[in-house]
Amino acid sequence: MGVDVVGFLGLGNMGIGLASNLQRFLKEQGTDAKFYGKLHIWNRTTAKAAPLQELGASLNPSVADLARVCNICFAMLFDDAALESTFNDYLKTAQTGTVFINCATVDPALASKLAERGRSRSCAFLSSPVFGRPDAAAAQQCLVVASGAAAAMEQVRPLLQAMGRGVIELGADPAAAAAVKLIGNFLVVSQVELLAEALNLGDRSGVPRDVVVSIVEKLFPGAIIPGYAKRLAADAFDMSKDPGFSVTGGLTVVRLMLALGERCGAALPAAKLACGHLEAVEAEGMGGLDLGALALAVRKEAPR
Ligand SMILES: NC(=O)c1ccc[n+]([C@@H]2O[C@H](COP(=O)([O-])OP(=O)(O)OC[C@H]3O[C@@H](n4cnc5c(N)ncnc54)[C@H](OP(=O)(O)O)[C@@H]3O)[C@@H](O)[C@H]2O)c1
Repeated sequence: MGVDVVGFLGLGNMGIGLASNLQRFLKEQGTDAKFYGKLHIWNRTTAKAAPLQELGASLNPSVADLARVCNICFAMLFDDAALESTFNDYLKTAQTGTVFINCATVDPALASKLAERGRSRSCAFLSSPVFGRPDAAAAQQCLVVASGAAAAMEQVRPLLQAMGRGVIELGADPAAAAAVKLIGNFLVVSQVELLAEALNLGDRSGVPRDVVVSIVEKLFPGAIIPGYAKRLAADAFDMSKDPGFSVTGGLTVVRLMLALGERCGAALPAAKLACGHLEAVEAEGMGGLDLGALALAVRKEAPR
């Protein structure tokens, strides 16, 4: 049996960490290596590849070039449009029997559409979106949810496991993991909305922010909710200091969950609230701040 050659497209805030985990795994394999030891990488902005090249990854000049040499390829791109156009480029020169794994948060309907398109070109399309912010991705602490054709899943399982702290497999339908990811994101963004409202209530009723944060830590122990509480309490929204997920990125994902709810008849009033606040912040030219900045819009709102 031949050795699989692995590629990675998209080295943004999340992609750089996930790809680094894969490169380390490929390098550390034993003598019975199933995978070639160097990750092949591509990013639209070439300069972002430098840290991975230092880890031993090999930079490819184009998606088409990468597709010629890899039979397994991961992608962590910004949104549905970026994924679809890049996947189309990949298919043009893809090897027969290749496996393409999307890690981005996308519309489950797009996952189904691209899986269908891939099938007609002998390419298996898997979904494996991840939970966790860029610091978790870099520390191999993301939770991976995955779905798609069983044989392809079997082939890439060690790679999925190497990307994060665990993998939840959800069957053969690539839309399944994409939908689960949107449900998880709905829970997180709704919590951020609630934290923004709680801190604003504290500000206006004279309860110091550190007291609100300590209540949050006691009531909801863990990393995610107290983490956002601290970020909101400190107005720590500058992504150049602490890369997270942008207001614009958050808005893209909230719109996807609202569209899914619309299609399947599920009302999501909490997501609509968060969406309105994210839109207000983006409209003021602050789409590049961390999505916790929706708190800025919450604070400006008059009681209704
Ligand atoms: N950030 C988080 O906390 C987080 C957590 C879990 C999941 N996610 C999901 O992860 C995905 C990526 O998020 P991110 O935070 O890593 O975003 P990001 O830092 O903005 O990175 C986006 C990546 O997509 C590339 N890209 C954008 N438009 C493109 C296009 N038209 N053609 C080709 N490449 C394009 C960018 O290339 P350039 O470098 O050239 O701009 C970059 O590599 C999103 O689906 C997001 O929902 C994010």
